[in-house]
Amino acid sequence: MNRTKGIIFDLDGVIVDTAKFHYLAWRKMANDLGFDITLEQNEKLKGVSRVNSLQQILGWGNKTVTETEFEELMSSKNDDYLARIAHMDDDDLLPGVKKSLDYLTQNNVPFALGSASKNARPILKGLKIEQRFKAIVDGNDVSKAKPDPEVFLIAAEKLGIPPQECVVFEDSVAGIEAANAAGMVSVGIGDKEILKEADYNFADFTEIDDKFLEQIVRK
Ligand code: BG6
Ligand code: MG
Repeated sequence: MNRTKGIIFDLDGVIVDTAKFHYLAWRKMANDLGFDITLEQNEKLKGVSRVNSLQQILGWGNKTVTETEFEELMSSKNDDYLARIAHMDDDDLLPGVKKSLDYLTQNNVPFALGSASKNARPILKGLKIEQRFKAIVDGNDVSKAKPDPEVFLIAAEKLGIPPQECVVFEDSVAGIEAANAAGMVSVGIGDKEILKEADYNFADFTEIDDKFLEQIVRK
C-alpha cells in the first residue's frame, strides 16, 4: 500500500491573501507614528508574530514606547486588521488552493495548519475550511515564533507523521527557515528570489498540479 507524507500549510499569504491586510494595518500604524514601512521591509514581517513584528517596526522608526503603549498598539493594529478582513468568505481562498485541498482529501493525504497568527481559527471558519484540517496549530499554541520550527513540529506531532516526512507550504522567509530547521520539505509560494532557501518554488497554487502533489506526497 502507498503511504503518504503529511502536509502543513501556512495560512496568511498561502491559503488566503491576508498578507496584504497585515501590511496595510501595520503601515497605517507606522504612518500614525510618523514614519513609513516599505514593501521590502514588509517581506521581513511575513510569518513573524504580532509581538516580534511590532518590535521590529518600532526599531525601524526609532520609536521607544512604554509597555502599555506597546499593548495598545498591538491591540489597535489587530482591530484595524480584523476590520479589513471582516467580510472574508470562501471566495477569498487564493486561486488553486481549493483544488489542491480537494486533491489531498480525495487521496487521503492528511494536512494541518501551521500559522503564526492568533486569528487563524476564525479566518479558517470564515473560509469554510476549518473542518478539513486534521490539526490546527497557530500563534496561540506556540512559545517560540517562526523561524523557530516549533509550530511545524507540533503540527507534525498532531498529524502523527515524523517531521522529515512532512511538506510545508510557506510564503515567508521566516517560515521557509522554520520548515528547513524542522527537517521538512519546504515549498515556497511567492517570489523565488526571496524564498530561495525553499526546496521547491511556485508563484502560487495555480502552478501546482496534481502531478506535483502526487510526486511529493508518496513515500
Ligand atoms: C503571520 C503573518 O501568519 O501571522 C504575519 O504572516 C502576522 O504578518 C502573524 O504578524 C501574526 O498574526 P496575528 O493575526 O496573530 O496578528
Ligand atoms: Mg504566511
